[in-house]
Amino acid sequence: MNENRHEEDNLLERLARSRAGIALAVILVLAGFSTYLLVDRSGAPEQEVADDTEEALADAPDWYRDGARAYERHCAACHQVDGSGSGRNFPPLAEHVPKVLTVEGGREYLIDVILYGIGGEIEVLGQRYRGQMPGFGRISDVEIAALLNYTAFAWGHEDQLPADFRRYEPKEIEARRNRGLAPRDVKVLRDELDLD
Ligand code: HEC
Repeated sequence: MNENRHEEDNLLERLARSRAGIALAVILVLAGFSTYLLVDRSGAPEQEVADDTEEALADAPDWYRDGARAYERHCAACHQVDGSGSGRNFPPLAEHVPKVLTVEGGREYLIDVILYGIGGEIEVLGQRYRGQMPGFGRISDVEIAALLNYTAFAWGHEDQLPADFRRYEPKEIEARRNRGLAPRDVKVLRDELDLD
């Protein structure tokens, strides 16, 4: 009798435990599913575009939106999303790119910087930088044109561009490829510009 009672208890206990187990499992599944629903999966897996940028870009033309994404993917790690640069190593592009586009040869120089990189001491907005930027020749002509157009117009640059500025075309990028330049060669090209 005692034995039986004991077995019964055990059974009830197991049943209670398994009910709790099932309930717990259901709760976990529901919680997991609602998290799955809440998580924003709209960003590209390679590099998330910040929500505020995504919002701000909603009404932008395609070329600008594509450029913003390419910039965030390839450039923002060093030059920052807002183009302000970083510390003593990475020069700002905000307030600076329109100046480069205004000097003779500046338009082509910017393409060379992206394709081949730049290294050596340069001065940007009154501050010296002695860094090394790698070339991004592996990026497509379309994407390089897009990110250059973005840096030309972003951060309030629109009013600072030369009056005759035209957006970059992919074929302009293609035309400057395969010249075998090293970052220090691009620095020499920079010295020939009427910058600073
Ligand atoms: C790994 C970090 C890094 C990344 C990524 C990077 N840059 Fe740079 N960039 C630099 C550094 C460092 C310099 C300054 C080099 C020097 O001091 O000679 C520079 C310089 C420049 C310059 C030259 C400014 C001038 O006055 O001559 C431009 C333009 C530029 N970057 C644009 C870009 C763009 C556009 C991208 C995205 C394709 C990009 N950079 C990606 C590090 C980076």
